[in-house]
Amino acid sequence: MTDTRANKRFRSQEWFDNPNNPGMTALYLEKYQNGTFSAEELQADRPIIGIAQTGSDLAPCNKIHVFLADRIKAGIRDGGGIPMEFPVHPIQETGKRPTAALDRNLAYLSLVEVLHGYPIDGVVLTTGCDKTTPAMLMGAATLDLPAIALNGGPMLDGWWKGKRAGSGTIIWESRRLLAEGKIDYPEFMKRACASAPSLGHCNTMGTASTMNAMAEALGMTLTGSSAIPAPFRERMNMAYETGKRIVQMVLDDLKPSDIMTREAFENAIVVNTAIGGSTNAPPHLAAIARHVGVALDVKDWETVGFDAPLLVNMQPAGEYLGESFFRAGGVPAVMGELAKAGMLHMGAMTASGQTVGDALAGIESEDLDVIRPVSDPMRTKAGFLVLSGNLFDSALMKTSVISPDFRARYLSTPGAEGIFEGRAVVFEGPEDYHDRINDTDLGIDAETVLFIRGVGCVGYPGSAEVVNMQPPDALIRQGINHLPTVGDGRQSGTSESPSILNASPEAVVGGGLALLQTGDRVRLDLNESRLDALVDDAEWAQRRADWVEPVLHHQTPWQEIYRKHVGQLAQGGCLELATAYQRIAHDLPRD
Ligand code: FES
Ligand code: MG
Repeated sequence: MTDTRANKRFRSQEWFDNPNNPGMTALYLEKYQNGTFSAEELQADRPIIGIAQTGSDLAPCNKIHVFLADRIKAGIRDGGGIPMEFPVHPIQETGKRPTAALDRNLAYLSLVEVLHGYPIDGVVLTTGCDKTTPAMLMGAATLDLPAIALNGGPMLDGWWKGKRAGSGTIIWESRRLLAEGKIDYPEFMKRACASAPSLGHCNTMGTASTMNAMAEALGMTLTGSSAIPAPFRERMNMAYETGKRIVQMVLDDLKPSDIMTREAFENAIVVNTAIGGSTNAPPHLAAIARHVGVALDVKDWETVGFDAPLLVNMQPAGEYLGESFFRAGGVPAVMGELAKAGMLHMGAMTASGQTVGDALAGIESEDLDVIRPVSDPMRTKAGFLVLSGNLFDSALMKTSVISPDFRARYLSTPGAEGIFEGRAVVFEGPEDYHDRINDTDLGIDAETVLFIRGVGCVGYPGSAEVVNMQPPDALIRQGINHLPTVGDGRQSGTSESPSILNASPEAVVGGGLALLQTGDRVRLDLNESRLDALVDDAEWAQRRADWVEPVLHHQTPWQEIYRKHVGQLAQGGCLELATAYQRIAHDLPRD
């Protein structure tokens, strides 16, 4: 890559080296010297590289970045830049109430403000825990400033009694065992902790590993970056290389909009199918696409992604965890296998400065049990279905986690394969679900479809991961581990439940789900990608006329601001007004 340094004036020089405004330059210079830097460095004609630090005691999944920052800084220095680390609003998936999803847009907003308002020429985005990755990519997209992502890597594999214990996935399994009376509370806690043996983010192909794979598939990381387990030496080396690389990206002016093109998003969607990725990927990718100005529709997940195969044998869709995935070659090996089958856009650019085709040359799976070839996949046609009907305009179903048992029970009636009719039982949020799920008066049996509403972006607020509702304890004891479930919220990426989720528009803004009543018949038709309430038109219209918009209780100022401006999951759950701000890095703020 040629050095394009000649004649480049850095954005940061408007702060630190502006002869036209000596008064302000003096103010900037003297204060930054009080911290870490000398005036000589700040005026040395070198780019200033931000390190967006997402790790903290409150964000343990990303805590490794506190240590990796030294290696990132060393890389930036050796690349010729000056590193400036700054904190990002913490987002911790399992610790933040009411949900970390509420904070994705807050972290995004604050990142935009930092990158715009401070002397930063390029940025290393530290990522890891679920929402941190999209928040960082969304912010970089809005600025369109050279940016590269570096995740902290998954934890080492967890083990419990000789079997792999995967993040999240073991919780869902243990919850059922507890309901069946097969384990007690102390064992539940031990099983949970066994899944988290080291620093790092979730070791299953949950939302964290998925979104970091998406960052790599989009081209926003160095090749091979995302799957390296957190404690491995390769992770430290990758931090150094990432720091070094961002300096050259600034010199070359290689921006998010050069990398995250429509082709890059199509690659990411195909990769998501191949890895058995999380149902949280569609809203996050939609949000990133909107902020970078790429047209992406929720239906693209079916048209581009459904026919792709599942190649990665990793929990929750398969058996292994992050260490095996890394040893089998990680995301480059998955992409290499897809590329051999002609399933990727090879000309898409990556942060490495190479096209996808050049970056993947000669790379293939190193363990065919963990990363399968396209000719012998875990499953064919393994992507998401995008359903519609009178209950919503769109909702997703992750078909790769439909178990043989679930398929046999619900989707294999001779002459009506893929079609299921049942009786709806409706819950108004997770508290109502927990209060009533074991109430025998509800008449929940194997023919019941469980619905949950009021848990979307506006309703919850933030959209809750609650759609993977467990059946009543009595049914679980009969061996029925999954009922069909539907909702306007999300579910954890570590869940193996074939829920119908992310229903948009959500109930509290008047989506069709709001009109459903317990006892209604519903019909699922996977051949037509439809789910409908079998309620006659006159009755439906009457319910619509009678519907009263609920009054929402905000607990914090941000909840109120968020609810006022957030869109629906199908469109990324963005702050709608924010999507109008694009490529703002060079619209310099007043001094
Ligand atoms: Fe943070 Fe899974 S909870 S990565
Ligand atoms: Mg989650």
